Amino acid sequence: MIQVKPSLVTQANPLVQGTSTNAILAFSNELKTIAGIINLAIGEPDFNTPEHIKQAAIHDVLANDSHYGPYDGTVTLRENAARFLNKHYGTQYEASEIMATVGVTEAIYATFKALLNPGDAVLIPTPNFPQYGIGVTFNGGQVVNVDTSTTGFKLTATDLEVALQTHPQIKAVIITSPGNPTGVVYTESELQTLVAVLRAYDVYVISDEIYSELVYDNRHVSLAALLPEQTILFNGVSKTHAMTGYRIGIIAAPQVIRDQIGVVHQLIVAALPNASVAAAAEAFGAGADDAVTTGMKAEYQKRRDMLVAVLDELHLVYAQPAGAFYLWFKAPESLGDDDWQLARDLAHTQQLGLMPGSAFGDGGAGWLRISYAASTADILEAGQRLRAYFGTLK
Ligand SMILES: Cc1ncc(COP(=O)(O)O)c(C=O)c1O
Repeated sequence: MIQVKPSLVTQANPLVQGTSTNAILAFSNELKTIAGIINLAIGEPDFNTPEHIKQAAIHDVLANDSHYGPYDGTVTLRENAARFLNKHYGTQYEASEIMATVGVTEAIYATFKALLNPGDAVLIPTPNFPQYGIGVTFNGGQVVNVDTSTTGFKLTATDLEVALQTHPQIKAVIITSPGNPTGVVYTESELQTLVAVLRAYDVYVISDEIYSELVYDNRHVSLAALLPEQTILFNGVSKTHAMTGYRIGIIAAPQVIRDQIGVVHQLIVAALPNASVAAAAEAFGAGADDAVTTGMKAEYQKRRDMLVAVLDELHLVYAQPAGAFYLWFKAPESLGDDDWQLARDLAHTQQLGLMPGSAFGDGGAGWLRISYAASTADILEAGQRLRAYFGTLK
């Protein structure tokens, strides 16, 4: 193994040296070392990618599609994605307003790089997907967190207005619906009250709707349908089509903004993996979407209901789990609010892996996230282990 020249060890960007990029993945890897663990810490579909989507990738490879493709995705992918969004959520996108990225992960980073100037701030309702805050600080911005733990884990119009008034340097507001880690979903009227405030300010609205197809009790409403002129919409195939490893996300935005983000995107990746683009085009393709995603959604809903019954039985407090595949519940007061310690104890005594709420920022202390993207057998067993742990503590 190469021994680095010692003087080079600490010369890198201090942000890089002080940042752990993925606490969730690190904790999940820690859990994997525990024998017999049921790991419900990671947010990743357990389904295989649907057959017709895999065939599209195979066909692309066999057709020798081995040259650099368009930086923003093929016209077919962008047309299909636009049609999918317009049909499902009532948006009015054209293919020229869509850009494919290497997952929404890249979309987040490229967007902040493109839009932020030094001193700009981004409002992030917390608890939240951790990559947002890192993306902001790495690109010279400041994070303004609004803790939503006392407002049902949703940003309210009042809190939004106060934050925008108090921090005039806010340039973008992030809304994630359905939410990670909470699984909560904003209703149309809740979004309308936010839109009424947002319209009055010169701010971008970054709407991460990667879980849009996984809304159970209601219908998904897209901010991009309500406030298209300010919205940068993120969507993708990772979660709703069980394609995390294909690494394709989608940005939809007014073309001038899409193109500005596209400059950064080209600098980072130049072009996208062709086979993944072909597979994503199929996933978003006309007629291909409904049966596949509806089947997975029905299965997730069944698993959610099984676990909700267990939480009810244990009288545990939880956020309204209306979407995505997460259940977000509060540990009993008697256990304190050191959720990292609690999650480790649960993992070692019951072999049940859940994600500590603090990994998702302010408002997460004392909470735990269950990902129910796991087999029914694992969900049933997880229920038993929750009963064994929390049932005896009361
Ligand atoms: C809210 C949210 N946004 C974005 C991502 C990243 O998705 P992708 O696989 O497209 O990079 C995730 C993944 O967990 C997520 O939960």
